[in-house]
Amino acid sequence: MMAAYASSASKKRVVLGVTGGVAAYKAAELARLLTQGGIDVQTVMTQAACRFVGPVTFQSLTGNPVYTDLWDTNALHNMAHINLSRDADMILAAPASADFIAKLAHGMADDLLTTLCLARDCPLMVAPAMNRQMWENPATQRNLSLLRQDGITIAGPASGEQACGEIGMGRMLEADELAEAVQMILQTAPLLQGKRVLLTAGPTFEAIDAVRGISNRSSGKMGYAIAQAAAEAGATVTLISGPVCLAPPAVSQFIAVVGAEDMLRAVQAEIAQADIFISVAAVADYRAAQLSQQKIKKSAGKLLLELVPTVDILETVANLPKPPFCVGFAAETENLEENAAIKRRKKNVPLVVANLAQDAIGSDESELILLDGAGKHVLPKASKIEQARRLIKHIHLLYNPLNKKE
Ligand code: CTP
Repeated sequence: MMAAYASSASKKRVVLGVTGGVAAYKAAELARLLTQGGIDVQTVMTQAACRFVGPVTFQSLTGNPVYTDLWDTNALHNMAHINLSRDADMILAAPASADFIAKLAHGMADDLLTTLCLARDCPLMVAPAMNRQMWENPATQRNLSLLRQDGITIAGPASGEQACGEIGMGRMLEADELAEAVQMILQTAPLLQGKRVLLTAGPTFEAIDAVRGISNRSSGKMGYAIAQAAAEAGATVTLISGPVCLAPPAVSQFIAVVGAEDMLRAVQAEIAQADIFISVAAVADYRAAQLSQQKIKKSAGKLLLELVPTVDILETVANLPKPPFCVGFAAETENLEENAAIKRRKKNVPLVVANLAQDAIGSDESELILLDGAGKHVLPKASKIEQARRLIKHIHLLYNPLNKKE
């Protein structure tokens, strides 16, 4: 038994939805970890889940009755679904089968778990677990993109050996990873309630002629993860994004831009409403002095391209008469901390997030160093969404220093 049990009054309540899949056995370990972590776990199992693991296992591990039936006549007013989701701080579906994800995407409610998900007003996280081909199927990917649009957090899956003997994407995240994600979501849930966060993300594309341009390899993953974490933390989020190949996260407003000048204009239009500005975008520092409307034709000689500097968006915002709380990023290939500290001073921002460009670009993981007035804080290597949630916690502390006493 862990020492730090919360009293039942202050305990967070999580509905753990278990759907049919071999990974249901990992959900038992998850139930144990969550319960040990001081969370009141209410388990809801689908009929298919009960074929993989018995409800008694979850009942023993959580100390709570397990719900399997939409038509349970013992439930108060016969409304088990409303009661369970009314009291929940969060719902986690793990494992989430392809079938469950499809039902969720289309608002179906033909069993207790799907009904609960539809009748909730708390965050929902799903941890997919399925065969590689089921995961890759366009129908599943389409459904997942609908879930993202609906503000549902998708945790994983991981790649690896599967129960069917194949190797590929579709393995459910491990129980400890999911338990940590739940704790982070529960901790950050109210942190930015009522705050308006403006973010830039992705690369910019500076056109040279009708078909060519200058860009960089930023994937947008970090910025999108921070937008998601800010939304999970209750903020009203506006995300201004350069061209990336990612589905937009569930934010209040999404603005797609192409070049640094478009991004600057979009930021200027939104900045007066922002309490916090997080500048994650890898904005091009130069653009072509002349934009050729037609495709530049090949010729035998050298081609000299004249470039002119773009406006530094972060520096412009940070030096407004009444700037929002500004967070900058520093992508460096060498002398990480030294260069990041110089940027923090030069751009006049309270917090700079430093990372090594060669490690972070395109990757799903990153190691971050936060530089603020108090010094340096290392966020050891973790998934970008995990780092994003840690960053949001740090921003919350700096934004309102009184929170440090909590
Ligand atoms: N940034 C910006 N507008 C620009 C260039 C950078 O808002 N025109 C912001 C980035 O979003 C990031 C920070 O400034 O938050 C640092 O960006 P980075 O590319 O690391 O540094 P630069 O200032 O461009 O300097 P250098 O390219 O010399 O490292």
